[in-house]
Amino acid sequence: QTDDTHAMIEAHALVSQLYHYILTSTEEGTEALNYLHDRGLNDEVIRQFNIGFAPKSWELVTAFLEKRDFDQHVMIDAGLLARRDDGNAVDRFRERIMFPITNDRGQTIAFSGRLLPGVEGPKYLNSPETALFNKRETLFNFANVRKEIRQTKAVTVFEGFMDVIAASQAGITNGVASMGTALTPEHISKLKRVTNRVIVCYDGDSAGLNATYKAVQLLQEARGMQVKIISLPEKLDPDEYIQTKGVVAFKDFYEQQQIEWPLFLMRYLSLATDLSQADEVAHYVEQVLTEINRIENPIEKEVYLAELNQRTQIDKAVLRQQLAQRQPQPQYEEFAFQPQEQRLVKRTALD
Ligand code: CTP
Ligand code: MN
Ligand code: MN
Ligand code: MN
Ligand code: MN
Repeated sequence: QTDDTHAMIEAHALVSQLYHYILTSTEEGTEALNYLHDRGLNDEVIRQFNIGFAPKSWELVTAFLEKRDFDQHVMIDAGLLARRDDGNAVDRFRERIMFPITNDRGQTIAFSGRLLPGVEGPKYLNSPETALFNKRETLFNFANVRKEIRQTKAVTVFEGFMDVIAASQAGITNGVASMGTALTPEHISKLKRVTNRVIVCYDGDSAGLNATYKAVQLLQEARGMQVKIISLPEKLDPDEYIQTKGVVAFKDFYEQQQIEWPLFLMRYLSLATDLSQADEVAHYVEQVLTEINRIENPIEKEVYLAELNQRTQIDKAVLRQQLAQRQPQPQYEEFAFQPQEQRLVKRTALD
């Protein structure tokens, strides 16, 4: 590590403490703290995630860092300060609830700041990419999840930070989220190093459904990942589900409504399919059979054929016959997972 990256890490540690102190112990943080309380977060989880508040000031952090002899250029590169047109450095984050983003070792390397309600601007503002912070690789809460995975053996991928935090308070403590971007292959290989069981629990709105579709396809391309999907009703996101239906209902849904890819696909494709049109039915059946064809277990195959029959009213014998006409499709390759070696050993189903 260079001196600069060392200084960046040190500055992030100090500034995250400052933001947390302002949120929890000062008058300036009261409105933000009340907002978080109103959203159902308790003080324990606010402490655990080291949530903070950046007050409405251009020079609080600038002065704080200057007093501690941090180089202004380095702090601008770190994304803690911004350079104004007149050349002066100013605080980058103002009047935002601050979520520290940590690296795999749990050191804070970036922030995401959320607007208070009623304030203009983008809802979340992230630190820029820096020498320490690469969005394609960073997963919110990953450092904590590494420890947690030893118990639960699985990771849950959420869309938003608030979903990770609300789920954690509800007892589902294996959650991560990407940085407001789609899940990337880099994220997936990071996850793969610690587990092969992934639960995707995105928002129940159409953006969330589309993101689920893409994320699960990518997870399957990565091979060897056992993927389950939680598809929340009424366009709710996990945090909203907990708010409106309660912790117990969320945990029940989380435990009991994990579905697999073919069923998700049937539901997802049916949203864009007019099943009263023969050509659309044909196309729908085609796409679903392609996935059913990958399933090895004949009972599982039957379960999904029955579901497809229910949805399309196409006779099961016809569906079975269509399936039989297809080339046996290579399975998604399976991997024997060997965590102690930190890598995956390939074991294809066709060997
Ligand atoms: N996001 C972002 N910028 C926005 C909106 C969203 O970067 N203007 C990112 C954030 O990382 C956010 C994620 O996308 O956590 C999911 O977006 P959304 O579902 O809209 O936000 P929520 O996480 O539900 O935010 P909140 O509950 O705080 O309103
Ligand atoms: Mn309060
Ligand atoms: Mn969303
Ligand atoms: Mn959301
Ligand atoms: Mn939300």
